[in-house]
Amino acid sequence: MESVRFYLPTEVVSGPGCVRRMAERWVLGKKALLVTGARSAARSGALEDVTAALEARGAAWAVFDGVRANPDASQIYMGCDVARREGCDFVVGIGGGSPLDAAKAIAWVVAQGVPRERFLKSRPEPGDAALPIVAVPLTCGTGSEVTPYSIITDHGAKTKVNVSGACLFPKVALLDARYLTGLPREVLADTALDALSHAIEGAYSPRSTRLSEAMALEAVRTIVPELVRLAHGGFVNVAELHYASAVAGMVIAQTGTGLVHAMGYPLTYHKGLPHGRANGILLAGYLEFMERPCPTLTARLLEAMGVAGVDELQALVDAVLDAAGTTPVAPSEEELARFAREPLRLELVRKYRAMPSPEEVMDIYRTGF
Ligand SMILES: [Fe+2]
Repeated sequence: MESVRFYLPTEVVSGPGCVRRMAERWVLGKKALLVTGARSAARSGALEDVTAALEARGAAWAVFDGVRANPDASQIYMGCDVARREGCDFVVGIGGGSPLDAAKAIAWVVAQGVPRERFLKSRPEPGDAALPIVAVPLTCGTGSEVTPYSIITDHGAKTKVNVSGACLFPKVALLDARYLTGLPREVLADTALDALSHAIEGAYSPRSTRLSEAMALEAVRTIVPELVRLAHGGFVNVAELHYASAVAGMVIAQTGTGLVHAMGYPLTYHKGLPHGRANGILLAGYLEFMERPCPTLTARLLEAMGVAGVDELQALVDAVLDAAGTTPVAPSEEELARFAREPLRLELVRKYRAMPSPEEVMDIYRTGF
């Protein structure tokens, strides 16, 4: 048997009502900082469940609801000010990827006293501490509830940086798919495509193992039938997507992401494409590129997705985005050429199995648009 290292210190609890039912597993201090976006925590019912569970355990809380899409350092430090002022000793992130990633960064900055001017330049060290983190995901893409990553927008570098360290793994992830029932199909589409890209990039990673690959195949096998329903207007089983995005998150917790994410970040930063949509439109071109160095793995991924080839995958992604009313506008050739230089600079790509030339990066962009 090959040697396998699989590290996942997060306790995953799922099922309807798990936030209230399992309060003794996740109320990890005397006062929680609840980190949320503007509306989704309250609208989904998650905030009410979290505060009821805290009350039942005799714990207090303070709310920081200042997280917006693609959080930056200023939002992190606003949250830290609330945590310090209120004397919070653990952090509960409630929301999509942005509130969860912000909660993790806040937990580290507060515990470690990271000065603001060092924040985007430093990363958690192996011995670093963070306040205990609890994650309540309200979308089905990020997988942040089971990863050590916090993705923060760096306006200076005009991209996103990955603040990553073992202390950022949540202690507990609480998955109640009922919170997802009111999500617009556009958000389901974007986040499901993000989860699909996590599974695929994880499978191609040089750090992929037999175990993480099995999980990646399980994730794509679960996600694609729901994407087909999203494309054709059918009932979407959000609990399946919630499960699969956590599984895909467990994969990238071992492997990291790769080329698709590195190529997607400039599309998000410069063109405003939501993160998952930016990844989704690049997936077929990426599989086409990886087919040559990794033919058998590519065949396994296509088989697990139940698609005949990369053209069928591209057609599915196009149909999903059309059905959601979110067909992206193609950037100009000049813009693509500028974006194509960015991923090659990113550290992520250096860990990759096959290194594309700038022209091959352009081809992947062109396939997507
Ligand atoms: Fe992602």
